[in-house]
Amino acid sequence: MVTPEENELLTRIGPGTRMGALMRRYWQPVGTTGEMHGKPAKRVRLLGENLVLCRNEDGAFALLEESVPRGCTRAVYPVAELGGLLWGYLGPLPAPLVPQLDGLVAEGTIRILGSAVIPCNWLQIMENSLDAVHTEWLHGHFFEFIKESEGLKISLRKKHVKIGFDEFEYGIIKRRVLEGHTEDDDDWKIGHPVVFPTTLAIGNASPEWHEYRFQIRVPVDDTHTKHYWFGAFVLPEGATAPPHLLDRVHEYETPIFAPNGDFMLDSIHGQDIMAWVTQGAIADRSRESLGSTDRGITLYRRMLLRELKRMEDGHDPKNVIRDPACNGVIVLPLEGRKAQRSDGFEALFRRHQVRYSPIAEEILAVLRSGRAPALAG
Ligand SMILES: [Fe+2]
Repeated sequence: MVTPEENELLTRIGPGTRMGALMRRYWQPVGTTGEMHGKPAKRVRLLGENLVLCRNEDGAFALLEESVPRGCTRAVYPVAELGGLLWGYLGPLPAPLVPQLDGLVAEGTIRILGSAVIPCNWLQIMENSLDAVHTEWLHGHFFEFIKESEGLKISLRKKHVKIGFDEFEYGIIKRRVLEGHTEDDDDWKIGHPVVFPTTLAIGNASPEWHEYRFQIRVPVDDTHTKHYWFGAFVLPEGATAPPHLLDRVHEYETPIFAPNGDFMLDSIHGQDIMAWVTQGAIADRSRESLGSTDRGITLYRRMLLRELKRMEDGHDPKNVIRDPACNGVIVLPLEGRKAQRSDGFEALFRRHQVRYSPIAEEILAVLRSGRAPALAG
């Protein structure tokens, strides 16, 4: 449990807030180079500030304050390009380097980027990623219940025998042992990370099925979060892709509510969004009662407060990289054989928001054309 004051400290990220100052030390995605092609500018709301993404006189991108009082100078923030994405930085200069996460810089991949504005505070989305057991209940028992009410009997639940959370250089590695599996399986031996502060890295890393997926949570303001679902699919051996699939990041809007305003409960992302949003615009943590399976959440909160103190003591917080020699490709741990994905690539693909990508069927066709990944669904 945290006090109301601690909850305010942890969640508020607008100008002048302490957590907002920490978040301003990190590059945040604000769009893609593809969407800005032939477009002079677009409005961006980031960390409680209204900004405009545009090109300056020398053709480089920049973020400008949208409005300034008469007689005042307009703030200009740097923008960097990496992985087909545009990243904005609102912190003190000089700006650090943009971390070269493996999935962003992997060559020859098919890249997609879904996005949506989630009407809730960023922290409850992050905490959901540190709650490993939610998959068993929300995407297991609850998904089965939804399907059963449609007359379909399926089995998705996998009981957690053990969970673990280890801090590493770039964040927290999440591990689990599911019923029928052991600590020798990838779910425990390798795991997958939350990259500090606001990215969940999932996917699959076997030779026949290699896919990077990042869920990047960008605080828009205290009660809204721009959620990016980035995916990069490595072509399996023998597969070829038409050039138009490879030349840019393919963006799309991810629907998060049904046309009648209801939650979309027949997909993994829709279930997560229901869990995030129903906690309220800013979850009241002063009323919570954490259990033993919530220890990933407490570790993450401790890390936020520790890195905040480091920054306030005059140091760079975790994952602020300045030395180019330390910014080679960051290879993140990622399971190759994940028990929760045992029903195959295509079945999982169709349960996930990736299915809303306009090129979803083309991706599946390309992957099928190679040395067959586990495509049986
Ligand atoms: Fe989830």
